[in-house]
Amino acid sequence: MTEQVKRTVVVTGGSRGIGRSICLSLAGPDTHIFFNYFPADDEAPKTEQMVSDAGGSATSVEVDVASAEDVKSFFEKVVSETGRIDVLVNNAGITRDALLVRMKDKDWEDVIDINLKGTFNCTRIAAKTMMKQRCGTIINIASVVGVMGNPGQANYVASKAGIIGFTKAVARELASRNVTANAVAPGFIDTEMTASLSDKAKEAMMSQVPLGRMGTPEDVAAAVAFLASENAAYLTGQVIHVNGGMYM
Ligand SMILES: NC(=O)c1ccc[n+]([C@@H]2O[C@H](COP(=O)([O-])OP(=O)(O)OC[C@H]3O[C@@H](n4cnc5c(N)ncnc54)[C@H](O)[C@@H]3O)[C@@H](O)[C@H]2O)c1
Repeated sequence: MTEQVKRTVVVTGGSRGIGRSICLSLAGPDTHIFFNYFPADDEAPKTEQMVSDAGGSATSVEVDVASAEDVKSFFEKVVSETGRIDVLVNNAGITRDALLVRMKDKDWEDVIDINLKGTFNCTRIAAKTMMKQRCGTIINIASVVGVMGNPGQANYVASKAGIIGFTKAVARELASRNVTANAVAPGFIDTEMTASLSDKAKEAMMSQVPLGRMGTPEDVAAAVAFLASENAAYLTGQVIHVNGGMYM
């Protein structure tokens, strides 16, 4: 594969939702996309097919971003097959909502391990290749609640605020090697993650959105595609908010 591929993109949590739209927005004839997902997900082959229909190519692998060992093997595969990593999108994320006083240790640990440590695991390893290349772009998916807070989501909010701080530290650290790091903070987006919310919770969220609709995965993917493009070459350490005006 090494010769044909000019651009290698890695998307975590690419099987469905926002991650799938990100894969589609970055698909192209010279680009190969590696995406992972966890646990097993029937949607992954569909995403591969959709990328192929869009004129690109993709490989999907079941990899838990919380496992540093599994992440290492995944990135070894990426580099052995294409020799490079141009774009890393840390999108994999979960929620385990509960009010603070009822939040279980496991709810806290799982969310921090997948959302924050998973972002660290992938970025640490991809950065080595990007630094050697003297180019690369890291895009971390945060959340509007990482800057606003949200009751019932202390674990998730801490992970997303952590991702924003992490992004700024990485941006400063890697800038001299021409590697950029930015975050995209989505608002209330229509995916499986939000589908399970009660109608009351959805209404409460919607009442905070000046544009009066939920966002789509494509709304978020468009910001990611911009950050991954040459047009964003001079942006680093920034948070792009895609939230219909929910936070200004
Ligand atoms: N939907 C929203 O309203 C919203 C708002 C703000 C931020 N976000 C963030 O956007 C990202 C994508 O969310 P979504 O709504 O598409 O969610 P989703 O539940 O539809 O998809 C999550 C994806 O992450 C993957 N994943 C979960 N745990 C994983 C793990 N341990 N290792 C590897 N992959 C794993 C899943 O396989 C899936 O592909 C998340 O980081 C989420 O926090 C979503």
